[in-house]
Amino acid sequence: MSRVAFDHVTKHFGDVVAVDDLSLEVHDKEFLVLLGPSGCGKSTALRLVAGLEEPTKGSVIIGDRIVNDVEAKNRNVAMVFQNYALFPHMSVYDNMAFGLRMRRVHRQDRHQKVLEAARMLGLQDLLRRRPRALSGGERQRVALGRAIVRDPSVFLMDEPLSNLDAKLRVQTRRELIKLHRQLETTVIFVTHDQVEAMTMGARVAIIHEGALQQVGHPQEVYQHPASLFVASFIGSPAMNFFHADLQLQDGQLIAHCGGARFPLAEGQARALAALRGGKVIIGVRPEHILLDWETEEGSEACLSGVVDTVESIGHEQHVTFSAGDTTVVARLDVGRSLREGERLRLGIDPAHMHFFDPDSGQRIE
Ligand SMILES: Nc1ncnc2c1ncn2[C@@H]1O[C@H](COP(=O)(O)OP(=O)(O)OP(=O)(O)O)[C@@H](O)[C@H]1O
Ligand SMILES: [Mg+2]
Repeated sequence: MSRVAFDHVTKHFGDVVAVDDLSLEVHDKEFLVLLGPSGCGKSTALRLVAGLEEPTKGSVIIGDRIVNDVEAKNRNVAMVFQNYALFPHMSVYDNMAFGLRMRRVHRQDRHQKVLEAARMLGLQDLLRRRPRALSGGERQRVALGRAIVRDPSVFLMDEPLSNLDAKLRVQTRRELIKLHRQLETTVIFVTHDQVEAMTMGARVAIIHEGALQQVGHPQEVYQHPASLFVASFIGSPAMNFFHADLQLQDGQLIAHCGGARFPLAEGQARALAALRGGKVIIGVRPEHILLDWETEEGSEACLSGVVDTVESIGHEQHVTFSAGDTTVVARLDVGRSLREGERLRLGIDPAHMHFFDPDSGQRIE
């Protein structure tokens, strides 16, 4: 059993709160991604599991035991760092065997384990080479190999792909997913790249300023972001946000924003009851901004936007509109040709609106 749990873990460095009351369970054999912007505490969280930092408060649990007082070398975890830190004067083989030699693993066993890891990672033909004679991707695999030979029950990976170019990253990402399947080990993978997180993680845990914002499957996090932070961090181009006023008219709740009025459905109105007459932030994904929107309510349920910029990325185009004092980004089919300065009606289907409390930033539903 190699589940990993953070139980109300806090880590201070002087005045800095690097990890803030984090409670999170990583299941046995799960591939969990820790995602968040630079400085949010991802590496610190990993280092707490590895035993390289001690929590200020709370418990770190591996399997069934609290490991706060267990030395790093006795935790049976392996960490792959962002800068692989290979020994430049040693061959690939020796780099991979080094940790085992330190642990006084028998020579024959050591040899077996290195060969096995090299086979898994396709490094058989490179075992005699020095790191400087390897490509970035190959070095990356050696760093992984060095961790694999230790047979850890938990793998900690701190942005292991950040030194690779875009194409190699996509390829290595897939290899890692396959490797996880083969190894059947718990993996905690850190990244600040939301696309990487979404494509790799069985579950993604989003951290902001040391605190857990949301944990869930990529689709769940995308479709039901729990807070304004998650909503704005996940998705590219980012979600559009509108400040709206809510008013009840003839028993119907209406959201007023930028000169448009959006009648809301009964379920939405119920959820927003506490804010009625008040203010709300409406979030809309760029793919849910519609052109030439026709509704029974007529032209009032749309914003008037002027095309500002058009970015075509091959299979789709991202179009920025100025709508009053806000900017709206739409993700559109390339079939539709648009001119800068053109004025259009931008529709929003209320069914695709996300609502957030402007004070707490929390989702309302
Ligand atoms: N040893 C330390 N002493 C003081 N402050 C530290 C120490 N280690 C980390 N911090 C601070 O704790 C916070 C979290 O750092 P951490 O390295 O965990 O962030 P991160 O999410 O891994 O960021 P990045 O994506 O840039 O690697 C930062 O504000 C950082 O400056
Ligand atoms: Mg880091």
